Amino acid sequence: MKDTMRKRVLVATGGGDCPGLNAVIRAIVLRAEQERDWEVVGSINAFDGILNEPNEIVILGEKEVAGIHIRGGTIIGTTNKGGPFAWPIKNKDGSWGSADRSDEMIRRLQYLGVDAVINIGGDGSQQISQKLFEKGCNIIGVPKTIDNDLSATDFTFGFQTAVQEATTAVDKLVTTAASHNRVFVLEVMGRYAGWIGLHSAVAGGADVCLIPEIPYDLNKVMEKIYSRFHRGRGYAIIVIAEGAKQKGGDVHYQDGNKKGEGSQRLGGVASKLIEDLKRAGLSTDIRETVLGHLQRGGTPIAYDRILATQFGVEAFEMVLREDFGRMVAYRHPNIVSVPFKEAISKYNFVNPESYLIKAARGVGICMGD
Ligand code: F6P
Repeated sequence: MKDTMRKRVLVATGGGDCPGLNAVIRAIVLRAEQERDWEVVGSINAFDGILNEPNEIVILGEKEVAGIHIRGGTIIGTTNKGGPFAWPIKNKDGSWGSADRSDEMIRRLQYLGVDAVINIGGDGSQQISQKLFEKGCNIIGVPKTIDNDLSATDFTFGFQTAVQEATTAVDKLVTTAASHNRVFVLEVMGRYAGWIGLHSAVAGGADVCLIPEIPYDLNKVMEKIYSRFHRGRGYAIIVIAEGAKQKGGDVHYQDGNKKGEGSQRLGGVASKLIEDLKRAGLSTDIRETVLGHLQRGGTPIAYDRILATQFGVEAFEMVLREDFGRMVAYRHPNIVSVPFKEAISKYNFVNPESYLIKAARGVGICMGD
C-alpha cells in the first residue's frame, strides 16, 4: 500500500546482471531516506514486476539495503528477455511472438502511484528508457554492463571487476602453461567490444589478444605462438573475446536465435580457434578455458562500488531536480548526465588506434593482425 504522504520512485534492474547493481540500489535508497517525502520501491526482474499478475513490487528501505553494496547480482532480480515493448507471447501454433504492453505499463505505474522511475541497465535497457520517456514516463537511466560498451560514460560499473577476474585467470593460466609447455586460450566476455579482453591481456601479460574490433589472421597467431617456443619448450597465453572473428569470417554462436527467449548467445570461439590452429598444423599442446559468468558474478571490487554509489546518489538527485529523459554518466572526474538519445546513439568500440592498443603492441602482444 502506498504511503500517500510520500512520493514514490521505482527502481528496476534490466539486462545481464553485473557487479555493483546492489551498490547502486543501496545508494538510491540511502540518499532517498534523507528526503522525508520519498520512498523507494523495486520492481522484481526488470519491468516484469509491474507487468506480472499479481505485480511484484517491493519496498526498499534502509533495512533492505543494509550491507548489499558488497554483494554481486541484484536483490531485485533482472531479465534480459522481453520487456514492455516486446513482451513474449506464445502463439496458438506454439511459436513465439511479442506484444507491446508499454501503454499498459504506464497505466500500471500510475495506478501504483509511481512518480519517477530509475532504470539501471545497459544499451537495450536504455533504449527501453528512451521509448518510455517518449510516452511521458518520468524516467532516469543508470548505465550498467561488464562489457563497458556504452559510449556516453568513461566506464560502466562492473567492468573493472570483470577485468580483475579475467586478469586473475590469465595469471593462473601462466603458471600451469609454463609448467606443461602448453598454449592456453582464455575465452572472455565481450559481445561486440573487446574491452575485457584487451584490459586483461595487458594486465596479465598475454601473448595474443583477439577482439571483435580487429579481425584476426590465423597465420599471425600461429607465428606468435611459435615465437614463444624453442626446441619444444615454452608457453603462450591467448585471450580471445567471445565476439572475436577471423578476417573474412563471422562471430561464433552457441545456438540458434530462439525467438521470444532473448538474444543470440555467443560462445565457443576458443574451441573454434583451437580447431583452426590444429587444422593449420599447430603441433604444440593447446587447451581452452572459458571464463563465462565468473566474470559477472560475485563481489564488486572497490572501484565499481564507488562508481555505482556515485551513480545511485546522482540518479536520485536527478529525480529531485526532475531531470528526466537522461542517463547518469561518468566523465572523469565528474558524474554528469546525457540525454537517452545521445546515450544510445553510439556504441563504445575499442578504437584500434587508441593508446591502449598501442601499448599492447608495444609490449609485444599480437593483436592478430
Ligand atoms: O552484455 C553482457 C554479457 O555478459 C555479454 O558479454 C554476454 O554476451 C552476455 O551478457 C551473456 O548473456 P547471458 O547471461 O544472457 O548468456
